[in-house]
Amino acid sequence: MCPISAVSCIALNVTQFEASRGFFIDVWGLVPVGETEERLDFSAAAGSAPLVSLYRSDRDGLAYIQLKATSREAVDKLHKRAVQMGCEVSGLVDDDHGYSFSLTDFEGRTIKVTCPPGKITTVPEQASGLSCRLSHIVLNTRDLQKAADFYVALLDMRVSDWSEDKMVFLRASSEHHCLAFNLGEVVSLNHAAFEVPSIDALMRCLGRLRKFDALTWGPGRHGPGDNVFLYCLGPSNFVVEYTAEIQYVDEDTHKAKVWERKPELLDQWGTAGMPPEKLRACMTGASLTGSSA
Ligand SMILES: [Fe+2]
Repeated sequence: MCPISAVSCIALNVTQFEASRGFFIDVWGLVPVGETEERLDFSAAAGSAPLVSLYRSDRDGLAYIQLKATSREAVDKLHKRAVQMGCEVSGLVDDDHGYSFSLTDFEGRTIKVTCPPGKITTVPEQASGLSCRLSHIVLNTRDLQKAADFYVALLDMRVSDWSEDKMVFLRASSEHHCLAFNLGEVVSLNHAAFEVPSIDALMRCLGRLRKFDALTWGPGRHGPGDNVFLYCLGPSNFVVEYTAEIQYVDEDTHKAKVWERKPELLDQWGTAGMPPEKLRACMTGASLTGSSA
């Protein structure tokens, strides 16, 4: 069994701190759940654990990603394993935010592994913000095979699919992917995706994006993962996605396949067309003012 169950939070270093605050509240529909001079936390509803943390910075880039461990024992197991694998590893911390540690992966990214304290908070039905959760994070890597090997060895993740030799999709549960890697020249964030409960909810998100003239690409339905998508460019050119109906695989029968990179891989419906050039550039991370990972 995989010792992590999901990606639980994405933390970004941002040069446009105030603009980012406005974006995640007004355009993206999250609610602020914590704030200091240097940091802002957002979630789907007041009282829920943060899905997004923003750090005031003079460089844009990924600060860290947080993975949710299935138990305190899983945190201990992964801490030991990360040390054995030669990763730079922090000490174990036990506080109000949970039982956790951080590690640095083979390309310098910071990964936090956390077992939340007590009962895991779920979003109430009448949430004040958008009913959503963090679905998946896609990262740009210079070595796709090494990325797959590293995360399979460290986290017992499974490979769900490949997009030729350009992308690999990794799962921690039967959900098709919660982490994926894209081959690129810059070690950076490609995009972070937020799952909403239905296509109806996704279309309401589309309405809000249209109101703010913020839709960049979609709607469409991806090939690998079978998920419906809407993409949006936030401040500092970070790419975020609303998604729905991601595939849940049968662990006994699913075999990873190599998808041929043709238009149907990007969008089975054929409604979205090709992603705009600017979106593609931002996904590579090359347009950021700097990358901390
Ligand atoms: Fe995605």
